[in-house]
Amino acid sequence: MDIQKIRLDFPILSRKVNGNQLIYFDNAATTQKPRQVTDAITDYYNNHNANVHRAVHTLSMEATEAYEESREKISNFISARNLSEIVFVRGTTEAINLVAYSWGLSNLNKDDEVLLSLMEHHSNIVPWEIIRKHKGFTINYAKIKQDATLDFEDFESKLSKKTKIVCLNHVSNITGTINDVKRLAKVAHENGSIVLVDGAQAVPHMKIDVQELDVDFYAFSGHKMLGPTGIGVLYGKKELLENMPPFQGGGEMIKEVSYNKNKCEVSWSELPGKFEAGTPNICGVIGLGAAIEYLKGIGMEEVYEHEKELTEYTVKHMKECDKIKLYGTNDLSKRCGIIPFGVRDISAHDVALLCDNYGIMIRSGYHCAQPLHEILKLKSSARASFYIYNTREEVDRFIEVLKAFN
Ligand SMILES: Cc1ncc(COP(=O)(O)O)c(C=O)c1O
Repeated sequence: MDIQKIRLDFPILSRKVNGNQLIYFDNAATTQKPRQVTDAITDYYNNHNANVHRAVHTLSMEATEAYEESREKISNFISARNLSEIVFVRGTTEAINLVAYSWGLSNLNKDDEVLLSLMEHHSNIVPWEIIRKHKGFTINYAKIKQDATLDFEDFESKLSKKTKIVCLNHVSNITGTINDVKRLAKVAHENGSIVLVDGAQAVPHMKIDVQELDVDFYAFSGHKMLGPTGIGVLYGKKELLENMPPFQGGGEMIKEVSYNKNKCEVSWSELPGKFEAGTPNICGVIGLGAAIEYLKGIGMEEVYEHEKELTEYTVKHMKECDKIKLYGTNDLSKRCGIIPFGVRDISAHDVALLCDNYGIMIRSGYHCAQPLHEILKLKSSARASFYIYNTREEVDRFIEVLKAFN
């Protein structure tokens, strides 16, 4: 992997912030975009712009072709069985809301249970808590161990015959902990529960094969994997998606709307159209397709190895500094390139602001996962997170800056 060559594709990496060379370590929030992605979007608007799936004219055909080509790229990228299993949504948040509102409202009742974990992002907690108010089911939360890994025994003990769905993240956005989703899905299926995985922090960083993992739903966001904002994917097993009612109504998602006796009879489109109401984010889909091509050009194994190596290097050097406290498991084989930490006597926000003075972008706060912070008894945390363009030299500078804090 030629990082210096990769960096040339990202114009933003050459800018300065506060007089210093930009160091971008906030990749878990969103990643930077290579020229190949912005060029694909510009090309669509400059040369092919039209609505998709509607008209017979040339531009609409070209736009539709590019849009559907991206669906094929994404389907291959995560090894889905069928193109109809790839639904375009705004992002992970909307994908989980789609499942909660469509599958959840029609399948969950008062005596049922939903199993989440205490390491979920708010977007995998709040939709379930909202629909619980409508349907009155119970939500159980699997515990987290002190090293911020999932307590598997507790997870297993909370699976009951009433558990209809298990919703877990693949990789924690706070600690980078990688959950053994394949094992968790197997246990959940043996119990008769279906499985939704929040893959927002996994798909950008490792090879994902939804068939091998054997999960029922898998959600992710384009903007965390070099793509544009406002586009994401819900993968769902065809048999499940086929039996779910639409999430939103409008154009595109209907087969027929016929008026009869002061009433409109509506029938739904085939998958995945049933879940893609209205004019979609066409340039977002095309941009995400370009992002996937870019990642495939590098190879997901290479991406994973690069981040693993950089994380090991960073953790080793951060440990040398006694005022830095690292959170999360010490077993780096169970971690992605996300490093949560604190600096003695300095709040997380101040650490982030001080880093910003030196052109280093890191995140601070709850990172949309307040329950996990409460369990770990943290008021907040600082977080550095890596991607394909980050280097050891950037890490050296970061540690130098941290060491200089008083
Ligand atoms: C684990 C996890 N799940 C869900 C989300 C929500 O993603 P989005 O805001 O793209 O919908 C994030 C975003 O940070 C995340 O890290």
